[in-house]
Amino acid sequence: TMDVFVDNLIKHMTIEEKIGQLNLVTPGGAVTGSVVSGDVDNKIKRGEVGGLFGITGAEKIRKAQEIAVNNSRLKIPLIFGLDVIHGHRTIFPIPLGISCSWDMPMIEKSAQIAAKEATADGLAWVFSPMVDICRDPRWGRISEGSGEDPYLGSQIARAMVKGYQGNDLAAKNTVIACVKHYALYGAAEGGRDYNTVDMSRIQMFQDYMPPYKAAVDAGVGSVMSSFNVIDGVPATVNKWLLTDLLRKDWKFKGLVVTDYTAVNETIDHGMGNLQEVSALSLKAGVDMDMVGEGFLTTLKKSLNEGKVTVKQIEDACRRVLEAKFKLGLFEDPYRYCDPSRAGDIFNADNRAAARDFATRSAVLLKNGNNVLPLKKSGTIALVGPLADNHLNMLGTWSVSGDFVNNVSVLQGMQNVGGSNVNIIHAKGANISDDTAFAKRVNAFMNEIDIDKRSAQEMLDEAVTAAQKADVVVAVLGESANMSGESSSLSNIDLQPSQKRLLDALKKTGKPVVIVLMNGRPMTISEENAKADAILDVWFSGTEAGNAIADLLFGDRVPSGKLTASFPVNVGQIPVYYNHKNTGRPYVKGGPAKFKSNYLDIPNEPLFEFGYGLSYTTFNYSPVKLSSTSMTKTGNITASVTVTNSGNYDGEEVVQLYIRDMVGSVSRPVKELKGFQKILLKKGENKEVTFTINEEMLKFFNSDLKYVSEPGDFKVFIGPSSATTNEAGFILK
Ligand code: IFM
Repeated sequence: TMDVFVDNLIKHMTIEEKIGQLNLVTPGGAVTGSVVSGDVDNKIKRGEVGGLFGITGAEKIRKAQEIAVNNSRLKIPLIFGLDVIHGHRTIFPIPLGISCSWDMPMIEKSAQIAAKEATADGLAWVFSPMVDICRDPRWGRISEGSGEDPYLGSQIARAMVKGYQGNDLAAKNTVIACVKHYALYGAAEGGRDYNTVDMSRIQMFQDYMPPYKAAVDAGVGSVMSSFNVIDGVPATVNKWLLTDLLRKDWKFKGLVVTDYTAVNETIDHGMGNLQEVSALSLKAGVDMDMVGEGFLTTLKKSLNEGKVTVKQIEDACRRVLEAKFKLGLFEDPYRYCDPSRAGDIFNADNRAAARDFATRSAVLLKNGNNVLPLKKSGTIALVGPLADNHLNMLGTWSVSGDFVNNVSVLQGMQNVGGSNVNIIHAKGANISDDTAFAKRVNAFMNEIDIDKRSAQEMLDEAVTAAQKADVVVAVLGESANMSGESSSLSNIDLQPSQKRLLDALKKTGKPVVIVLMNGRPMTISEENAKADAILDVWFSGTEAGNAIADLLFGDRVPSGKLTASFPVNVGQIPVYYNHKNTGRPYVKGGPAKFKSNYLDIPNEPLFEFGYGLSYTTFNYSPVKLSSTSMTKTGNITASVTVTNSGNYDGEEVVQLYIRDMVGSVSRPVKELKGFQKILLKKGENKEVTFTINEEMLKFFNSDLKYVSEPGDFKVFIGPSSATTNEAGFILK
């Protein structure tokens, strides 16, 4: 019936109306480029708008929808989208943070709650999940993805699509998801946003494409084309990418939308003038043009000049109409404009979920002398620019989050610590003392709140607090705007103001716990040497302070594991666990002449993929295989017994890696192929079993065929990608 309905509608549309459906505008709101759409009301009346993004609210969206339904000739409803990225009004940890939970049901649930809030707020389309694989923490948008691994990234992509879309797009509380940024956006050269991407097809298919494909396989309703070039051709005008691979090979049936003014930006890439690039983009497979209005203003001319066909315009129009049909908008254009659903938004349940998710996303990087958890008694000096901070708790892309509602670490520690603990707060330093830098960061969105006192005065206050305390908790890191879009950095150290603060605190001789807030892996070798403990909490969202206090005081036990490597220094980038061996492999233990290594630093990152501590400890038994050989149609099982040998109940992410020892192309030293998150009470043990089948041994060969090849394999099971707990088998 959808086909019949849409075909019939298209028959009644003028060419202008068909082109109008391809136009996605924003009247303001989330603006990440220079153009904001003008004269939106009249355009809607004339049938020149297919969808709108950047507004929220059931009533407000109803009003906009009324313009389309009451005043446009064919009364075609608009589709309303927004950047709902890590929660809508209730903000969850940034995506890089939540990926560290390795908890798929939880991640799915986070998307489900976001969808429920978004649909109660008038929206039916979210520009998420962002699944760009990234091996370069200089890139500010590493904060928006799931880190460096294609297997984990694919699991998360699937979980998010399922969470957003549910089983029925027409249901009142589900939305169409949009997987982005297709493709390879996270591989920008030098980590500089929007920069050139260039890589071999093998690497593309092996390491970068799987999460996009996983989202497509999970039925994602839309795809956003990326800003970067691929094989020299910008993604937004890349026919190989958008049609041959996406639609023909992957069988994607949904809607392709560009990123913000991405069609226009291909002019700067050198693809032609606006008319030419708009035609190229349509022919490449783009359906909706975000904000730039190249389609709106040039496609008819191109049609008249024979540069595009009616069929190409109709195909794109059909996909927009189909998305609206699937959402049930033709049946009821106001389906998502129900003010009686206000209670679905930012309610106690959603906030409780946000708190829980945040505790599961934090990663304990160090815990010397078991300084954590803290006692709920004695005196704690709580210092640092992010200790009593509301502005920076939400992190990047939290456009509908309200800063006022955020729980700061100070508030959280007071809430959770109870009346027997004495907390002395002192800011100690600004996030940065470099005012020119702070200005550039601020130019983008919210403000770094700058304390006007002198640096020395602030430092002295913090030192005095530390001297009176049993333990110091220093909340350090980035401001929210130092990561995210257009926030690339060449230096990912802590700012000097905060380094000075840490040094002064260290000198007091008191134990120092760093709570690190960050949208990217940072270079913290020095801080790691100085601090007694480091808890990485990313940007944890609405309930940040409560969740962090739950962890610091031991009401919750950390269980997160890193999904992106922490480099020793920026010169080590890119550093990632699933690298190739080279012909002169590095010898563990340090640099050696004529090996593939640096003379001044080790090859290993400071903290590797999969790494993360708990308040308890886990022991792993040697890997046991059910057999030392398998056939392509058979399988074998690999198992370990994991024992909780410490003093707390805790969760552990048990990780399975495989290495293909011999192949027609050189294979990585390890690849994640499975994981299980298990809860073990103290003293308890569990056998964890993985089934290995041929699918897990496949890779892309030189002909880009996805194949397995007989030979030796190694299996590793352990607590991180550095595990050496291994066994071997042969694929016959
Ligand atoms: O969805 C975003 C995208 O991630 C970056 N550019 C703007 C889009 C819409 O706001």
